[in-house]
Amino acid sequence: MRVLLVGSGGREHALALALSNSPSVTFLLVAPGNPGIAEITRMTPIGAEDVPALVNLAVNERIDLVVVGPEAALAAGIADALAQKNIACFGPSKAAAQLESSKAFTKTLCEAKGIPTAAFATFESAETAMAYLDTIEAPYVIKADGLAAGKGVVIAPDGLSAKEAIHEMFDGRFGSAGTRVVIEEFMTGEEVSFFALCDGKNAIYLGSAQDHKRAFDGERGPNTGGMGAYSPTRHATPAFVQDIMARFIEPTLVAMTKLGMPFCGVLYAGLMLTPTGPKLVEYNARFGDPECQVLMARFEGDLARLLMACAQGKLESAPSFRLADQTAALVVMAAQGYPDDPIKGSEIRGEMGAKAVANGVLLHAGTRRDEDGKLRAAGGRVLNAIGLGPTLQQAVDSAYQVVDAIDWPMGFHRRDIGWRELNRDR
Ligand code: AMP
Ligand code: GLY
Repeated sequence: MRVLLVGSGGREHALALALSNSPSVTFLLVAPGNPGIAEITRMTPIGAEDVPALVNLAVNERIDLVVVGPEAALAAGIADALAQKNIACFGPSKAAAQLESSKAFTKTLCEAKGIPTAAFATFESAETAMAYLDTIEAPYVIKADGLAAGKGVVIAPDGLSAKEAIHEMFDGRFGSAGTRVVIEEFMTGEEVSFFALCDGKNAIYLGSAQDHKRAFDGERGPNTGGMGAYSPTRHATPAFVQDIMARFIEPTLVAMTKLGMPFCGVLYAGLMLTPTGPKLVEYNARFGDPECQVLMARFEGDLARLLMACAQGKLESAPSFRLADQTAALVVMAAQGYPDDPIKGSEIRGEMGAKAVANGVLLHAGTRRDEDGKLRAAGGRVLNAIGLGPTLQQAVDSAYQVVDAIDWPMGFHRRDIGWRELNRDR
C-alpha cells in the first residue's frame, strides 16, 4: 500500500512510525513532515492546508491511502477533494468535520440526540451575549465557535473578565472563529480523551488517554494544545468504554449519517467525568496531539490496513489490533512564550543522549534542522519525550530521563505529568 501522511507535528511523527511499521505499507510519504520524520521516511515540502497540491501529489505518486493529521486540512476539504479522484482518505469530509470546526453544530446535535453535555447558548453579537451573562452564575465558560487551535476557550472567574473575553472574541482575536460565541455551563471533574475509529456507519474503540491542557505545573496558566499525556487511563474500564460508545459515539454516527454527512476518521470525544456522569466537552475530528503519540506507542497491528478499512467503509473486515498492556507517558517540551508567542530559532542540543534512554522515545514537532546540522525550535510545541513502562511511575520516570537529556535553555515543560493518577497510586 502506498500511503501519504499529512501533517508536521508530534502526532504525525508517531503516525509515521506506526505506518512505517505496518507490514502492508510499501511506500510512505509525509507532507510536509519534520526533522524527526525525515529520519524514517520520505517527505515533500507541501503544507497541510494546500489541498490542491496535496491532491496532485496523491495522484502523481499513485497513493492508495491518505492519512490526515491536522484539523485545518480536514476543514479545508481535503477528504472531499480526494474523493473526487477516488483516493481513499482517512479523515472526514468538510461537512462531517464540523463536529470539530463548529462548537454550535455539535452542541445542537447533542441536544437533539440527548448526548450529555454542558447546557449552552449561542450568540452572534456581543450585546446579546453580555445580556445572557446576567442570567447565569460564575465561573463563565466562553468559547469562540470555530477552530482556534485549542486556545479559543476562556474560563472567566467573574463577570468583568467574561465581558472582556466576549469583546475580544467579537473584535476578531480568533479571526472568523469568533464571529459566533458559545457560552456554556461550567462543569467540574477529571477529563478523559476517548478515541473511536469510524467508517461512516460503524465505530470501534481505539483507546483512551489523559491530556494536561494547562501550560504550567499544578494546572496553572493558559490552556494549550496539550502539555503532556498518558495512556491507558484507569477510568477506561470495559463498562465505561461500552457506555461511551453506546451513549455518545454511536448516536453521533447515526445523527451524522441522517444529516447526509457520514463521519469517517477518528472521532475523539473530550469527556469530563462530572459528579453526575460523563459529559461531552467537545468532539474533535482527528487524533489528539499529544494523545495520539501515547496511543501509538502502545499500538500493535497493521495501522495502515486498519485506517484503510475505515476509509473504505469496511470496518467489519478490519485487521485485529491491540494496545500493549504497558503504560506510555509523554512530556511536551515547548518554546518559551508558548502558547501566546513562542520564541523561535533557539538551538536544541542533546538529541543523541535523549535517543539513548532505555524505554524512551524522542519525537519531533516544531523543530527545524538547519544547514549547519543544528536543531532549532520552529514552533510552539517543539519536542515530545515519551517513556514506556509496566507502571505509570516507571513510564513517567523514563519520559523525564529523555527530557533531562535535552539541553535547551529556551524551552519549558511541565514536571508533573500524570500527577492525578500518581497521587491515587500513593
Ligand atoms: P475545548 O476546546 O472545548 O476542549 O475546551 C478546552 C478546555 O477548556 C477543556 O479541555 C476543559 O478543560 C475546559 N472547558 C471547556 N468547556 C468547559 C466547561 N463547560 N466547563 C469546564 N471546563 C471547560
Ligand atoms: N490535546 C488536545 C487536542 O489535540 O485537541
